Amino acid sequence: MQKSIYAEAIIQQTNSSLTMEEVIKLIEKPRFKEQGDLAFPCFLLAKTMRKAPQKIAEELAAKIDHPLFEKVIAEGSYVNCFLHKQTVSKRIIDAVLAAGSAYGSHSFGKGQSIAIDLSSPNIAKPFSMGHLRSTVIGNSLAHIAEKCGYKAVRINHLGDWGTQFGKLIVAYQRWGSEEKVRQAPIKELLALYVKFHKEAEKDSSLNDEGRLWFKKLEEGNEEAESLWKWFRDESLQEFSKIYELLGVEFDSIAGEAFYNSKMEEALEVLSAQNLLSSSQGAEVVDLEEHDLPPLLAKKSDGATLYATRDLAAAMYRQEQYHFSKAWYVVGFEQTLHFKQLFLVLGKMGYKWADEMDHIPFGFVLKDGKKMSTRKGEIVLLEEVLNEAVQLAEGNIEAKNPSLANKQQVAKMVGVGAVIFHDLKNDRQNNVEFSLEDMLRFEGTTGPYVQYTHARACSILRRSALEVGTESSAGLTDETSWAVAKLLMEFPNIIEKSFYQKEPSAIAKYVLELAQEFNKYYSQVKILADDSEQESRLALVKAVTIVLAEGLRLLGVKAPIEM
Ligand code: ARG
Repeated sequence: MQKSIYAEAIIQQTNSSLTMEEVIKLIEKPRFKEQGDLAFPCFLLAKTMRKAPQKIAEELAAKIDHPLFEKVIAEGSYVNCFLHKQTVSKRIIDAVLAAGSAYGSHSFGKGQSIAIDLSSPNIAKPFSMGHLRSTVIGNSLAHIAEKCGYKAVRINHLGDWGTQFGKLIVAYQRWGSEEKVRQAPIKELLALYVKFHKEAEKDSSLNDEGRLWFKKLEEGNEEAESLWKWFRDESLQEFSKIYELLGVEFDSIAGEAFYNSKMEEALEVLSAQNLLSSSQGAEVVDLEEHDLPPLLAKKSDGATLYATRDLAAAMYRQEQYHFSKAWYVVGFEQTLHFKQLFLVLGKMGYKWADEMDHIPFGFVLKDGKKMSTRKGEIVLLEEVLNEAVQLAEGNIEAKNPSLANKQQVAKMVGVGAVIFHDLKNDRQNNVEFSLEDMLRFEGTTGPYVQYTHARACSILRRSALEVGTESSAGLTDETSWAVAKLLMEFPNIIEKSFYQKEPSAIAKYVLELAQEFNKYYSQVKILADDSEQESRLALVKAVTIVLAEGLRLLGVKAPIEM
């Protein structure tokens, strides 16, 4: 808001042809805080006004005057503005307290929906680190989109179809035990799958048998179908434990199999638009003009494919949710697939294909190597999360043994630590997985932010004063000003994280706010009994609101005590 007032003043004083929006975009944060709060570069004006930018800066500095500005000075080719700390901090704090958790919301997404494809693990296989990243990033992006006014539709595109299920059926029939599968479905099904491949190396007829059973499955054979359903149900039950721990819910769990009945329509549109051509018996969509390999629409044996399912899924989602954007939170490995998918949807005549995005992310590494859920070294995610919760419990026990509902808090901290660790770096970077690192109460961790929030809550509990929505008279000291200015940034951070599809912008922001607040806490006697106490408490309250809301957008809980 102060930015727009500054922009208005600049426009008034220059009667320039620049619009409000353009001027606001040009306004920066000065490099050092001693240089003021807002800086406007005069280079662009220099062109239209045919004057040296330094000269314009000087003239503007002399002319601009507003009760919200303490002083305006020329700094080379920039005009820098020092905001009036007391008035502006009061405004910011009041705005946060009045809006509560709605502070920072936007309405530009109103009336529109975003279909977010996230998590999408493959059944009968362990939930991988990559699926964890997709779940956590996708869920946060959904929160952020909602904060911007959109309706977010969280869709789990479960990998529940494909030739591997024929193999799994064969393996189960030969070597499986119902009891074992019931006890530990994922572990057992994975073991069967691994065994199948080992045995098939010796006896390749197993592969034919697998193909046969998949064919039966596709044709609706009762035995095949009931086994498949059972594997699927058991897997989903396992996955739902992870989702429960992570606090993630879906609007739709429609796996690949869901689109079996919808493939024909997709193929019809492809053929009506003359997009199909034959290649070695298979039907493909040629993409040579885009320098890409063709999209495989139908295999030579008539079986349809992953890509065709995604075509059908996109059509279905548009029809069902009328999405204005569709986001696919899936690892880098599938970049080509999504390029092909969006191009083909465009060729099919769907304008909305322009609004689809693949949102890739980096790998999870352990000691510098990609963490794998395959073969011997399987890491079961549920175990990892439970270990995080246990470690958190230990940390809490050491720090605050008398805390009530310790276990509940440990769950929030342990799981929050894993999520935060994933989201704090740009999503395209790889993540080094270290439970000890992510659970530390100091440094750039989730628990650090949670702990800061809890500490601020405890100050409010200890004070006798009640903080209302207009408790602040504003503050003038440098430390509180630094905190207030960060609070002012929150709405911009949310907008930025939405457009860049980067939850990390919010994670970095809450870290900075927590650091700045802790500086404040250590330098200022917040509860000192003087005339500014109420204003200081109002600032503390505003910080708790923004920290909790920032964490919520990441999918991390904010306990009020820990
Ligand atoms: N199940 C796939 C995998 O684990 C991811 C699916 C992503 N979503 C999609 N619509 N293709 O690799």
